[in-house]
Amino acid sequence: MLVRDGKIVGAGTRRDVERRPEAKRAEKFDVGGRVILPGFVDSHTHLIHAASRAEEYELKIQGASYEEIARNGGGILNSVKKLRAATREALKKRAVAALGEFAAHGTTTIEAKSGYGLDVASELKILTLHRVLNQEQPVEIISTFLGAHVVPLEYRGKPGGAEMYLALLIDKLLPEVAVRDLAEYCDVFCDRGAFTVSQSKRLLTRAKEHGLRLRLHAEQLSHTGATRLAVELLAASCDHLEQVNDADIRALAKSDTVATLLPGCDFHLGLKAYAPARKLIDAGAIVGLATDYNPGTSPTVSMPMVLSLACNQMRMTPAEAICAATINAAYSLGRHASIGSLEPGKQADLSVWEVEDYREIPYHFGMNLCWMTMKRGAIVWMKD
Ligand code: NIG
Ligand code: FE
Repeated sequence: MLVRDGKIVGAGTRRDVERRPEAKRAEKFDVGGRVILPGFVDSHTHLIHAASRAEEYELKIQGASYEEIARNGGGILNSVKKLRAATREALKKRAVAALGEFAAHGTTTIEAKSGYGLDVASELKILTLHRVLNQEQPVEIISTFLGAHVVPLEYRGKPGGAEMYLALLIDKLLPEVAVRDLAEYCDVFCDRGAFTVSQSKRLLTRAKEHGLRLRLHAEQLSHTGATRLAVELLAASCDHLEQVNDADIRALAKSDTVATLLPGCDFHLGLKAYAPARKLIDAGAIVGLATDYNPGTSPTVSMPMVLSLACNQMRMTPAEAICAATINAAYSLGRHASIGSLEPGKQADLSVWEVEDYREIPYHFGMNLCWMTMKRGAIVWMKD
């Protein structure tokens, strides 16, 4: 690899790279025969949250389902309560620690969603933190507005409450987010217990008019038709997809919408329902992989673990999984021209692995074999 001013100038065999005129004056850094990959692009995270939900984890182990816990006041509303009570400094400190861990696991870019605020001030607090964190530390953050995560408590139990909250999102929050350029994407949790397909369509259509691109939480807990909506609205990404049917798969295959799979959720929730990755790939859909880092369904920042789950549980090959976690994820974020592969002209965002063969990255599970991470040509993490 030949890197200059944060960009890749050459990539290939040592002979080919050293033959280039710029190589003469370049400082040499020997990675000792280790494997170099593009930095992971984690295209689905809920970065900003106040605390873990370890208490719910124990309930889940004892047999309570994710939806039962949510109906009893736990779940996303539990995290909303904690976030609203947290100071900006505390949220920032927790996020900075997580971002360090992302880098330590080979991730150089993440998408981050709001959605644990669910009122004007708290949602704006999260989205402004995305911006500040993007400027203050090396892991690149692409911001997504997920005001439509669930209906907040203060709007529940009154007639038309969900509609009133939707009106707040459409008439107040969305225009503010757009004017202040606080998010590049708009997402909706379109599922049983969250928002319906028709509510999602109204919000996403308005988001598009404001210039935001779209992503969607779809077919995770139940089949709703959210995938067809994502394809119809030309969404950049349609995520989860545990419950997709054959018609959805055909629609995704014909579209440019990335099918982003999140096997960490199925693992953590103890579900046997992994998304049909093989069917999606064989049909010709663009498959992405992400951690879905969040306190309720996937408390991990580890893309290597996601690769292991993708290969073992969803029968993706190691090469397919790595493509899904790099270039396909970059495509879903509209960044495929600048990141996601090791090609001249792209940002020098890369990860170096303590393995002899790239297949050893998913093969070992629950281990972090990342040796070094580089962002725009600067070493941002190194194993000691
Ligand atoms: O992607 N499904 C909705 N949102 C998250 C879970 C959020 C939570 O439980 O806190 C997800 O799985
Ligand atoms: Fe999510």
